[in-house]
Amino acid sequence: MALSITRGLLLLAALCCLAPTSLAGVLQGHAVQETDDTSHQEAACHKIAPNLANFAFSIYHKLAHQSNTSNIFFSPVSIASAFAMLSLGAKGNTHTEILEGLGFNLTELAEAEIHKGFQHLLHTLNQPNHQLQLTTGNGLFINESAKLVDTFLEDVKNLYHSKAFSINFRDAEEAKKKINDYVEKGSHGKIVDLVKDLDQDTVFALVNYISFKVLPIYICPNCPFLKRTI
Ligand SMILES: *[C@@H]1O[C@H](CO)[C@@H](O)[C@H](O)[C@H]1NC(C)=O
Ligand SMILES: *[C@@H]1O[C@H](CO)[C@@H](O)[C@H](O)[C@H]1NC(C)=O
Ligand SMILES: *[C@@H]1O[C@H](CO)[C@@H](O)[C@H](O)[C@H]1NC(C)=O
Repeated sequence: MALSITRGLLLLAALCCLAPTSLAGVLQGHAVQETDDTSHQEAACHKIAPNLANFAFSIYHKLAHQSNTSNIFFSPVSIASAFAMLSLGAKGNTHTEILEGLGFNLTELAEAEIHKGFQHLLHTLNQPNHQLQLTTGNGLFINESAKLVDTFLEDVKNLYHSKAFSINFRDAEEAKKKINDYVEKGSHGKIVDLVKDLDQDTVFALVNYISFKVLPIYICPNCPFLKRTI
């Protein structure tokens, strides 16, 4: 079981190698031309793929070690993308520590490349496609007492397929409703009432949702390990 899960994790990193257009092309059986920006994003995505794979294995190792059950289900791409997005709003040591904690070496890989890599990966994963019905995104909910900077809001939207909202956590019921509505809408109604309790003193909430349905079809000709998983 553990092995098939690690193969499942690799699927997300491997999907990264396919541009959204070429993914559609592969599924429809024809090649598609790409724009310059798409290929730049695709190159950045290739660069972050080894980091994501290492991150996935190291977190899997920790979870497996702590868990007393044999099945562990988690999405390393969700965790990594949520934190990489959060780094956009952090400064100084916190900013560096978040990215280094995800396994990125900022001397070797420019920060802009990291964000472009995630942009491409999340865009690819969210492409409508009937074989892999997957949607994923983040929501960042910040208490009204903090002001949100415009560039941050734009980056979150453009790079991370996500949104940041200013809400009043003092009104815990209303805040909970906003978060749950966002997740329900983003997941096309698959995830409801995600948040059950919310503390009035909350300053921010970072939410990630992922929903998918894998149909038994062989989608990646360059990923031999998939043959055995599906
Ligand atoms: C596993 O852990 C959970 C929570 O930590 C606990 O409720 C459960 O009893 C544990 N199961 C076994 C078999 O130890
Ligand atoms: C980051 O990369 C540089 C250059 O390759 C290397 O000297 C340094 O040790 C690396 N840092 C870490 C924390 O691995
Ligand atoms: C959240 O914002 C509200 C409205 O601005 C404010 O009254 C409250 O003190 C803030 N909460 C925290 C924990 O800072």
